[in-house]
Amino acid sequence: MKSSQQVLLTKKIKALCEELNGHDYRYHVLDRPIISDKAYDDLLSELRSLEEKHPELLTPDSPTQRVGGTPLGKFEKLRHRTPMLSLQNSYNTEELVEFHQRILKLLDNRDVKFHYLCEPKFDGLAIELIYENGLLTGALTRGDGLVGENVLANVKTIKSIPLRLHSKNPPKLLEVRGEILIYKEDFKNFNEALQEDGQLTFANPRNAAAGTIRQLDSRVAAQRPLKMFAYALGASEGTNYKTQLEIETAFKDLGLPGLDSREGGKASPRLCQNIEEVIDYYNFVESLRHDLPFDIDGIVVKINELDLQDSLGFVARSPRWAVAAKFQPEQAITRVNEIIVQVGRTGALTPVAIMAPVKVGGVTIIHATLHNQDEIDRKDVRVGDSVVIQRAGDVIPEIVSVLLDKRPKKSVKYEIPKKCPACNSLTNKEEGEVISRCINSLCPARLKESLKHFVSRRAMNVDKLGEKQIEQLVDVGLVHSFSDIYKLKREALMALERKGEKSVENLLASIEKSRQSTLARFVFALGIRFVGEQTAKDLAHHFKTFELFEKTTEEELLEISGIGPRVATSILNALKTKVFIDDTHRTIKHLVFEKARVLASKALSNKSFLVTGTLPVKRDQAKDLVESHGGKILSTVGKNSNYLIVGSDPGSKLDRANELNIPVLDWPGLLKLIKDGQ
Ligand code: IVH
Repeated sequence: MKSSQQVLLTKKIKALCEELNGHDYRYHVLDRPIISDKAYDDLLSELRSLEEKHPELLTPDSPTQRVGGTPLGKFEKLRHRTPMLSLQNSYNTEELVEFHQRILKLLDNRDVKFHYLCEPKFDGLAIELIYENGLLTGALTRGDGLVGENVLANVKTIKSIPLRLHSKNPPKLLEVRGEILIYKEDFKNFNEALQEDGQLTFANPRNAAAGTIRQLDSRVAAQRPLKMFAYALGASEGTNYKTQLEIETAFKDLGLPGLDSREGGKASPRLCQNIEEVIDYYNFVESLRHDLPFDIDGIVVKINELDLQDSLGFVARSPRWAVAAKFQPEQAITRVNEIIVQVGRTGALTPVAIMAPVKVGGVTIIHATLHNQDEIDRKDVRVGDSVVIQRAGDVIPEIVSVLLDKRPKKSVKYEIPKKCPACNSLTNKEEGEVISRCINSLCPARLKESLKHFVSRRAMNVDKLGEKQIEQLVDVGLVHSFSDIYKLKREALMALERKGEKSVENLLASIEKSRQSTLARFVFALGIRFVGEQTAKDLAHHFKTFELFEKTTEEELLEISGIGPRVATSILNALKTKVFIDDTHRTIKHLVFEKARVLASKALSNKSFLVTGTLPVKRDQAKDLVESHGGKILSTVGKNSNYLIVGSDPGSKLDRANELNIPVLDWPGLLKLIKDGQ
């Protein structure tokens, strides 16, 4: 028997889950959020702390379960209940007409009226979501069409996918097929962040989506901007759909993401009466292809009536009732004149092909990244080769293939040099990595890149210090480190080639302006590997001062949400590096951080506090007081909490603290602790 308290709690947890799932749907599917991120986070932490206290009440559709804890060893292989087929392709409107004629022929002697449902062909990867009695219980990749891999843990991190269908009476079984993809804009940002962190970049949004879905650690997937569109039904029990359109409408009613929502609306599915209308739709979608926020490579044409689909059946591995009408890819042919190697600030060597300029989709292209040696080997790109290029995700130029019959006779395989092209030091490739790195932390190329990052707009924002100037300053030996920027003197700058008085004044003024900054910007500017802008903000928010940050421990870093072992190790390595930390100290002397808290004392440093109940002062004031003496306020009770500050009418944190033997303080007790510690 459940106690009445348990019944209440169960209800509370259920209500919180429903509320949060509703907000996810409004935000990620409808694009119409009604609460702030902060309010959402508060609800989520309330739910999380209730679930921590009562793990027996945790449900699989709880929004806290979107990110799994431990990485998987490998994916489970599962057989599709009905095979996932592919589509026949057609490449122009004539072939579409031929498809239509084949259908008419197959329906010979039968006077049947039918329609085509047309929609964009998404350029992502196919997925099958399995809902049993409304609950998401599996997510299979296509695999070989018969057996796929269960990537449920990663799919759950996609917030637009409902963990439970929106229905009081869901079908016993519903397999939803659709496409997982990454928006072009998201891809660009995310790939840039990878590049900045010296990590492997992806050639296009499709590869990025596929690589993410096959991640064994769902925490990595959760950081990536995956989206999904549902477009077809797999096996089902307890449904009675008559048409393809009915299926796709039902999907939307069940809370699944479809094309009508968000920006894809312009290219939403269209029911066509005849093949002429299909061709109109094909031309229409092709014309707005580049305005869509995601990549498509054609349209898919499906007979709308399901009974007709059934009677037409399949040939080989494709249905007779559907066809993919592909668009002409926007490609061009050019020649690789040279392959150069760029050195990033983390030392990563990136090979880049320099090509004879050529226009693709209205943009002139000169270089394309070749990513790493594995990519070069796979495509076997050589200097002198004629290559087919295209713009991946309409943005990034990519070499698609080499025209082997045009290869010059004496060409040789390209190998990334074993020595850094900038400083001649040996490079290193760690086991399991594909990127070689220059390990010389004083390498001028690395220094230049680090400085470019340091002064960039979102970091220290020294807007008058451009890339060319940095290169010049390093080359003439005026700047060897971050702190040197703040020591630049008018006379030395004036002596530089092509520097007028005005531009020197402007430069000095912009350096002066950058001294007023924030701890978050500074931490980001340092360019610690894996510490992007958001992580820097989280660190600054947590530590408040650089002194506290530099004394941190692995344990403490891992407590900060969003920081995993890889990031923590990288931070600790940087903080241990003497040249780095010495220069950081020299630099910080020139800076003034806004809102940097001057500590009243260190009486509470290294101690963490929780607050429950009503105190004699406002909650924020209590928090400020603790923080101004170097203490930290936590939101949930854990083994690492040092004290619980208790006011009147304490909440559940008190029970939890008692269970964990965490010392309890009242308000006068806290004041005494501060006094004693000073
Ligand atoms: S319906 C019998 N609709 O195209 C297959 N597929 O070659 C029914 N695709 O692997 C599939 N957009 O990943 C359908 N709107 C769409 C699609 C679509 C992309 C992909 C799908 C499949 C491939 C078939």
